[in-house]
Amino acid sequence: MRDFKRETAALIAALPGMADAGIDEAAAFGILERPSDSAMGDYAFPCFRLAKAFRKSPNAIAEDIAGALPGGLFDKVENVNAYVNVFIRKDLLCAEVASAVRRDGDRYGGSQSGAGRRVIVEYSSPNIAKPFHIGHIRSTVIGSAIGNILEFLGYEVVRINHLGDYGTQFGKLITAYRRFGSREEVEKAPIQTLLRYYVEFHAKAETDPSLEEEARAAFAALERGEAEERALWEWFRAESLKEFTVVYGMLGIRFDSYAGESFYSDKMGRVMDELEQDGLLEESDGARIVDLDAYGLGKALITKRDGSTLYITRDVAAAVYRKEEYDFSKNIYVVASQQDLHFKQWIKIVELMGYDWASDCIHVPFGLVSLKDSVMSTRTGNVVFLEDVLTNAVEKTKEIIAEKGVLTDHAEETARQIGIGAVIFQELHNNRIKDYVFDWDKVLNFEGETGPYVQYSYARAASLLRKGAEDAAGAGGAESQDGAIDPSYLTGGAAYALAKLIYDLPGVVAEAGERYEPSLITRHVTDIAQAFSGFYHDEHILTANAEERRAKLALADCARQAIKNSLALLGVEVPERM
Ligand code: ARG
Repeated sequence: MRDFKRETAALIAALPGMADAGIDEAAAFGILERPSDSAMGDYAFPCFRLAKAFRKSPNAIAEDIAGALPGGLFDKVENVNAYVNVFIRKDLLCAEVASAVRRDGDRYGGSQSGAGRRVIVEYSSPNIAKPFHIGHIRSTVIGSAIGNILEFLGYEVVRINHLGDYGTQFGKLITAYRRFGSREEVEKAPIQTLLRYYVEFHAKAETDPSLEEEARAAFAALERGEAEERALWEWFRAESLKEFTVVYGMLGIRFDSYAGESFYSDKMGRVMDELEQDGLLEESDGARIVDLDAYGLGKALITKRDGSTLYITRDVAAAVYRKEEYDFSKNIYVVASQQDLHFKQWIKIVELMGYDWASDCIHVPFGLVSLKDSVMSTRTGNVVFLEDVLTNAVEKTKEIIAEKGVLTDHAEETARQIGIGAVIFQELHNNRIKDYVFDWDKVLNFEGETGPYVQYSYARAASLLRKGAEDAAGAGGAESQDGAIDPSYLTGGAAYALAKLIYDLPGVVAEAGERYEPSLITRHVTDIAQAFSGFYHDEHILTANAEERRAKLALADCARQAIKNSLALLGVEVPERM
């Protein structure tokens, strides 16, 4: 696609005196800004930095540049104080958008900038035998979207679920099961039952310390690979995974690997040896630590007194393994910001071990999700299951659809797409680092900046295009949407605003990939949906003038495609009818 910003930069760099002032194309490109108000043009060139070289006031320089820029690319060039504001020719931009979207289709907005590079994106990573609750949705949905975005930018993406399937809590679970559990109960409702055992274990352990002792012994037996403990653990894991898989299926989430913490249980020896050889380990009260005080990161506990390894040890082993197995260019972890210190610690340890790729390990943190009027805690058993949230979203959507009295075909399928899409969209709407409160009223609002609103815009564009095609067929001879259009019909305010946003999509996707920030796409697709509504209301699209109708339908088709591609990156499906 033509890059109008770069073309503008080239024209500015070619003006007299620019080369001497050190302004080449790249420099001019770097200086060009996007005005926050579109009334100030498509790009603005501030002249403050040129004052010294030109020995003139910035305002005078802006005036000179505005007067000297050649026509052809611009509808208008004006200077406002020290700024040169350029207005790209609307017909050129609209023609460019129409042909690029038609050419790229489902690939519009992507690029090949990451081609030949492999990245790992680790996300979701729930803990076995614990419920998959609303708190886990963020890593799952944000991580999956980041994976989609990077793939769209040409990277080869390896998606890993680092299951929390190892650690002392399994000793507790085994003990609880042996003391007061039953196979039938677990089989009937695995995670809820295991959670109850876990809660009961903690309650009983308060008065009976022998439980803790027994749990430690059970975990030690598990680490030694004793058959009975191993079998119980495998069973808990398999039952948990069954439930997680249901949720992943509902959300349309997939992984290339489920290598979780237990996968590294036999890969720890090598890490311990290396740490030892590098002189990084210290004894402390029988335990072994790496002292990171010099970096303001405290002391990292590597093995406990009884020799058992910890969460952090497994992360070090996992990173080393991943580098060797996948030779990643980036190894990305989508994990809550509560674990900031943990990630800083182990990445520092990997660096101290002499691995220069430590800096390619990237923690992408996100804020907390909380529920309106309730607090979640696994220990007390007060949790909201994600599966229930999703089922509830679909049910509520069905009610809304029934109330509105529309849509009888595909009602089930559409309600699923809208309900699930609404939850995902809401998750990805805020800047990821912000904490937010899950609120049903906001999620399923069809009018606000929500998934259903954007999906509705898509369905409306799709139906408009169907109508356009029918009309054309009725008028004799199917009108094709291919071939050139006359872009002069698209220069009205609403049409151009829409075209401009569609033109900007590739840049937004690239930035979302660089910053690991899917919310940039969520915001942008909301803007496109709103601009489409504006276009739909302001312009008479299905006019009698065939040329005009063709141009406007082509733009509607671009909007439809841009919305579809953006939502696909977020993991939200699009209903053809709504
Ligand atoms: N299982 C952990 C939890 O639920 C998250 C794992 C994050 N990934 C990692 N490599 N440490 O808190």
